[in-house]
Amino acid sequence: MGKEQSTIIRMKGVSKSFSQTQVLADITLEIKRGELVSILGESGCGKSTLLNIIGGFERADSGEVLLNGRPVQEPVRSCVMLFQDYGLLPWRTVRKNIELGLEGLKLSAAERKARTAHLLKLVGLEGKEDLFPHELSGGMQQRVGIARAFAMNPEVILMDEPFAALDTFNRYYLQNELLSIQSREKTTIVMVTHDIDEAIYLSDRVIILHPNPGRIHKEIQIELPKPRRRSGSDFQHYRNIIFKEFQFDREEHFLEFHI
Ligand SMILES: Nc1ncnc2c1ncn2[C@@H]1O[C@H](COP(=O)(O)OP(=O)(O)OP(=O)(O)O)[C@@H](O)[C@H]1O
Ligand SMILES: [Mg+2]
Repeated sequence: MGKEQSTIIRMKGVSKSFSQTQVLADITLEIKRGELVSILGESGCGKSTLLNIIGGFERADSGEVLLNGRPVQEPVRSCVMLFQDYGLLPWRTVRKNIELGLEGLKLSAAERKARTAHLLKLVGLEGKEDLFPHELSGGMQQRVGIARAFAMNPEVILMDEPFAALDTFNRYYLQNELLSIQSREKTTIVMVTHDIDEAIYLSDRVIILHPNPGRIHKEIQIELPKPRRRSGSDFQHYRNIIFKEFQFDREEHFLEFHI
């Protein structure tokens, strides 16, 4: 088996409850090294919980979670989590927040500076490095979080709606950057999103969760070469498939949606 094809994350029969309410039921999932997988599902269906379990921030009640063949017991450096609320330290500037990702990498001061400058440029925050998180917009804070995750040069990045706070142009730009860094670094990415188009544009595979309790409803392999064309008919084909899974094409759902 080639290195790209080997499994990096393996979940087997994972269940999780919070105070009597079952949030995840019998999740079995394998993620290959270098794969970009999106988890798609409605609010509250357990997406963040699933990501937290992979990242070692929550423990499963039952089942198995392996990273590189080892049981996940706590967060590790090789698997970085980009939290839904950005997870920035409010008392540190943009630069210092990004440098947090470089700690423990044994870089010289010059290397650290160069790497931080590169990341600032990548996420379009040059000139903002001395500001504090509360001085930034939500989208900018999100970009600092993205830069810090990449600074760590991890094997796996877990992203919880990483582009949700961005406007369309920044979102498209950063989606492309994400793809180019990911193809260069062969980073494995597991991303939670609400956005069907984002899932199709980025993912090798889309996993649809159904709620109450959260469980895997369907896995859809996106067989389109990257970069993908959002306006292409094959893109529309996947859109239709996924919309059907959510039954957004049903009239009663449409009506509910607009009441
Ligand atoms: N630490 C916690 N303690 C108690 N309940 C929790 C905890 N974390 C999540 N839950 C509950 O578990 C369910 C799933 O939450 P989760 O955050 O995983 O959903 P989600 O799919 O990420 O939703 P969203 O799309 O809104 O972010 C929700 O009902 C939530 O209230
Ligand atoms: Mg969530």
